[in-house]
Amino acid sequence: MELKGSGKVIIANWKMNLAVHESVQVIRRLRKLLDTRQVPDSIELVVCPSYDALTAVREELSGSKIRLGGQDVFWQEKGAYTGEVSASMLVAAGVSHVLIGHSERRKYLQETDEMVNKKVTVALAAGLIPIICVGETYEERSIGHTDLVLMRQTIEGLKGIPLHTGQEIIVAYEPVWVIGTGQAIEPPMAEHASEVITQSLIDLYSKGIVESQTRIIYGGSVDETNIRDFLNLQKISGALVGTASLQPEKFISLLALL
Ligand code: PGA
Repeated sequence: MELKGSGKVIIANWKMNLAVHESVQVIRRLRKLLDTRQVPDSIELVVCPSYDALTAVREELSGSKIRLGGQDVFWQEKGAYTGEVSASMLVAAGVSHVLIGHSERRKYLQETDEMVNKKVTVALAAGLIPIICVGETYEERSIGHTDLVLMRQTIEGLKGIPLHTGQEIIVAYEPVWVIGTGQAIEPPMAEHASEVITQSLIDLYSKGIVESQTRIIYGGSVDETNIRDFLNLQKISGALVGTASLQPEKFISLLALL
């Protein structure tokens, strides 16, 4: 398994936006644009469509370096869990990465750190790269609890989960209060959050493991006006992009800046 590429990772989170035929169109357009625009080879690209579009998107991605990601996973392997999808089902659909604990799931579906922990466990066991989303709400920031929240979500989400050779995790720092607003945070705030998350990871794993098997990325209103500011930060290894990843032209112009 390829570990922790030296370049940056850009993850497109389409959320519940594109139906199957729209997802296919976006990928076709994206691939065409990628042929004509300069995007550094070192950039790793992952797209996360809705479950129903995974197979069609995988077919469209054949022969490309773009990887496929899931937006969630359930912690049981199989059985009477209506509406859920297991890690092995994702693997069978060609998925390599999976978002876990996105703030929208924490907010609308009451997902807890304990559930995140179970999901990360099964994702790693299935050979997937979990992208664990952590981040504070506006209220938490305004009472000075940002660092505490980041530490709690990182430690509770990962405690008791060993990272074996060849396994990798990505932690996405996503301040909840800027997601989807069009207004990102100041880059130094992301740098600070990355330091807090790194310290929490070092509490769980050895420094060597943290350096070679974990990466921290930023997400929250990333677009072509600010992507460089975040990716230039030494402690930020990539970006999780929502809104700006839905339009191929916009997404490509963002990638072409890297
Ligand atoms: P946004 O979404 O880029 O639209 O803010 C990011 C995310 O929620 O992952």
